[in-house]
Amino acid sequence: MSVKDLVRNELKQRVQVSSTRQRYVDPPNMISLAAGDPNFLLPDYIADAISAAIKGGCNHYCFGDEAELKEAISNYYSKYGYKAPPNLITITSGGNPSLNQAYAAILNAGDENITPDPSYGGGGGMMRYLSVKNVHAPMKKVNGLFRIDLEALKKAITPKTKSLYLDNPGNPSGAVFTKEELKGIADLAIDHNFFVVSDETYSEYVWDGHKHECLIAIPGMENRTLVCMAMTKMYSWAGMRTGWVITGPELAPYVASAPSGSVSWPIQKGAVKALTEGYEYVETIKKEYEERLDYATKRLNELPGIKCTKPEGAFYLFPDISGTGMTSQEFGEKLREEEAIRISGSMYGPGNAKGHIRLSMIVPLSYQKTPSWYEVTKDKTLESAMDRIEKFVKRHVK
Ligand SMILES: Cc1ncc(COP(=O)(O)O)c(C=O)c1O
Repeated sequence: MSVKDLVRNELKQRVQVSSTRQRYVDPPNMISLAAGDPNFLLPDYIADAISAAIKGGCNHYCFGDEAELKEAISNYYSKYGYKAPPNLITITSGGNPSLNQAYAAILNAGDENITPDPSYGGGGGMMRYLSVKNVHAPMKKVNGLFRIDLEALKKAITPKTKSLYLDNPGNPSGAVFTKEELKGIADLAIDHNFFVVSDETYSEYVWDGHKHECLIAIPGMENRTLVCMAMTKMYSWAGMRTGWVITGPELAPYVASAPSGSVSWPIQKGAVKALTEGYEYVETIKKEYEERLDYATKRLNELPGIKCTKPEGAFYLFPDISGTGMTSQEFGEKLREEEAIRISGSMYGPGNAKGHIRLSMIVPLSYQKTPSWYEVTKDKTLESAMDRIEKFVKRHVK
């Protein structure tokens, strides 16, 4: 018998190493607008809290997760009008681990999960691992952004539907779902008896007066919602791996029982500092993301064949490039080869992502306002990226 015969069946169907476990070796002139990997440097007072924790004995097991962190998370949610008692919070090592923890608690082989199209696909690996069918339900485009289509969701529901994935604010779609939209989803979940995995990774990033609403706060949804969150995007925390799952009192013990690793204790101490004292830092980051979004939206809309709507939330642009005559894959490949820009696109769903590309606003504008973990040279700024995209589009679209 070969090794392949012996390994887990669900894995041998498709070998796919997570993208964060792969290292890209880009040529020096490459600008990456592909990953959602924020570039901001941590302020000293947060880094110092981590260092003090290491020196102060937080190098043994952190039994029960850091109580102060659960308290800080609980307090953080009061701004959304939601009281999340600390005992209903499970600390995880980031956004995808939160999704994995949530799905591992609720899904059985043969169940179905519905994912609106387009959406972030981070839970797909766990679904395949658990032999769960991921059913894509199309979203509808309204004023340039993809929104929930309740009729399409209803069509996708079967007796096997166990969960719905909801990315709010949406990645890549950029929509921030209103209370009314969430109420529509809540009614479906209650009527058809399924859970909603509510991925709120970008809840801090809402623009132009839009407001983040918490699905779990809607009456009847407490034990049907699994809020999945990470500090990755909020505090430029991608390499420090901290997140959480919040749910209701009936469901929380099952979430906490799903197997997972724990989060480094000193990092949890740093997370307490960030959540309790770091809001000014988040505000600075937000301001800069919004400037980048405004700038790049304007530049893209000046190009032939491209239509770009500024998102209501998150820090991605998801322009329609179908007018260029290229598919999103062709656009991405040619742009990388000809202009050394890396983007993403077609992976966000089988239908609606077609004809779109996703640009992540992780590159500073023409000047360095906030300290970055990489050196930004003049030819590696967002301005330079947009100049290259302009050259590329004007060369291909007459
Ligand atoms: C909506 C969403 N959820 C989860 C994640 C994964 O977060 P993490 O890097 O903390 O695993 C991402 C990353 O891009 C995301 O966009």
